[in-house]
Amino acid sequence: MAVNFSALQVMQDAPVIPVIVLNDVAHAVPMARALVAGGIRMLEVTLRTPHALACMQAIAQEVPGAVVGAGTVRSPADAAAAAKAGARFAVSPGYTRAVGQACRDNGLSLLPGVATGSEIMMAQEDGYTELKFFPAMQAGGPAMLKAWSGPFFDVKFCPTGGVTQQNAHELLSLPNVACVGGSWLVPADALAQGDWSRIEALAREASRLPR
Ligand code: 3PG
Repeated sequence: MAVNFSALQVMQDAPVIPVIVLNDVAHAVPMARALVAGGIRMLEVTLRTPHALACMQAIAQEVPGAVVGAGTVRSPADAAAAAKAGARFAVSPGYTRAVGQACRDNGLSLLPGVATGSEIMMAQEDGYTELKFFPAMQAGGPAMLKAWSGPFFDVKFCPTGGVTQQNAHELLSLPNVACVGGSWLVPADALAQGDWSRIEALAREASRLPR
């Protein structure tokens, strides 16, 4: 099966990959349209809620401008289910060889999560050079990324966890950061209120972050 979008393509498309938690299938399509209207089309829908797969499917079918990915992929079964629901890339909070293999088997590129040098080396051994740094701000933030830029000069990171519109700047200015991830583009209260214009405005602001 062909890989849909490479991890590098996913990272380079916009400065921010939104980390999305959806509790209601009815929110999925209008939310995705708002993000796309604001200039963000790589959408990480996390597998954290009972309706996450149905939400992915709705976005994949009804929002042609969006590229839906699966977040919180923690097992081979998650990868298979996400691909079946229309996901075109995967993001995981950590890395296991089994998850990597399942993503390849299902034609999904993977942004594996790492937080230590050993985890980076393990992911590199399996051919991954684009990695998610998670949880980024809690695990060392920009200082950690600067330290890694020496030994891991050939790795590009997507720091995620504790990233905001305010601190994204500093992260994006680092040469080994290709993009950042964060949940601030899709606040739970904006979803609950159906405030799509607020989500669009947050996406527009994020899409204009310099890098
Ligand atoms: C997550 O997996 O929850 C992401 O890292 C998002 O973290 P954030 O809510 O701090 O952006």
